[in-house]
Amino acid sequence: MRILGIETSCDETGIAIYDSERGLLSHALYSQVTLHAPYGGVVPELASRDHIRRIIPLIKQVLTESSLLPTDLDGVAYTAGPGLIGALLVGAAVGRSLAWTWQVPALGVHHMEGHLLAAMLESPAPTYPFLALLVSGGHTQLVQATAIGQYQVLGESADDAAGEAFDKTAKLLGLGYPGGPAIAQLAAQGAADVFTFPRPMTQRPGLDFSFSGLKTHTATTWKNSAQTEQIRADIARAFEEAVIDTLAIKCRRALQQTGLSKLVIAGGVGANQRLRQTLTALAKELGITVYYPRPIFCTDNGAMIAYAGYLRLAAGQQAPLGFKVQPRWLMSEI
Ligand code: KG4
Ligand code: ZN
Repeated sequence: MRILGIETSCDETGIAIYDSERGLLSHALYSQVTLHAPYGGVVPELASRDHIRRIIPLIKQVLTESSLLPTDLDGVAYTAGPGLIGALLVGAAVGRSLAWTWQVPALGVHHMEGHLLAAMLESPAPTYPFLALLVSGGHTQLVQATAIGQYQVLGESADDAAGEAFDKTAKLLGLGYPGGPAIAQLAAQGAADVFTFPRPMTQRPGLDFSFSGLKTHTATTWKNSAQTEQIRADIARAFEEAVIDTLAIKCRRALQQTGLSKLVIAGGVGANQRLRQTLTALAKELGITVYYPRPIFCTDNGAMIAYAGYLRLAAGQQAPLGFKVQPRWLMSEI
């Protein structure tokens, strides 16, 4: 079974073809970072228009790179939410229409389910049950996954998602967009232990997160400092360490609470090197296994949508001829 995957929920046009026999055949990604950078964040209308420009050439590209014709495809999966409504509509309209033209089934995929399953594109792939740490620009969640579609959210952020905290804090520190890579790069120049920031919500029991206070704390520290380049780097380091440490504390707690022995990382913040080092050390200490997608599949991509779509289409699911996108869509509603 060969599935075309289309991801257009935010500022990346991601297209891929997944083959159930041969694995991922090809993937292509167009990032709109330079388009939005002058505005310091994603401008939804510009995002939608750019997806329209990129989507068909990228679909042609992955078909060529896989040496396939449209008639070789068995289905089309597109991200149906959550995300920016205009951006989602581009992928859904194109995906649904192509599937109709090609007379194959189509399916709208939940973006976070795509992230959750991305590590399964790697080898060795995790098997159920596992604990997933979903850390993206819009979500921070700890999820117990027992089978495809069987996801129990154990904890989540009450306010900013981890990636959002990176992005907003970067802006407050006068760094570029997207903030995650910008902070990570600067933090590498920062000295340890010059500043120590709080690890929010770790003193009380539970698996929920809150990052907006940490963001404010970081901004205040910067405002009240001498504002040298070195101090900015030291602050970036303290912020990054606080976020990563908080995520690790909650992962440890969730693993102990559930008794699960596999931890799967997903979402854009999963590309962060310090997070990967910290969780690898935690896994070693606890005697469990941690799984990461390759960094390019941590951030938004078409491969995860093709794969999640394959699993659901293979199970017989498909969308009716119309299509629906959901800018807000809880994982419990899949
Ligand atoms: O999963 P993703 O591509 O999109 C959403 O579904 O939101 O995640 C994007 C987020 C952004 O907030 C970005 O700043 C963050 O992931 N990010 C990182 C890194 N790379 C991307 N955060 C920390 N360190 C990184 N290296
Ligand atoms: Zn995403």
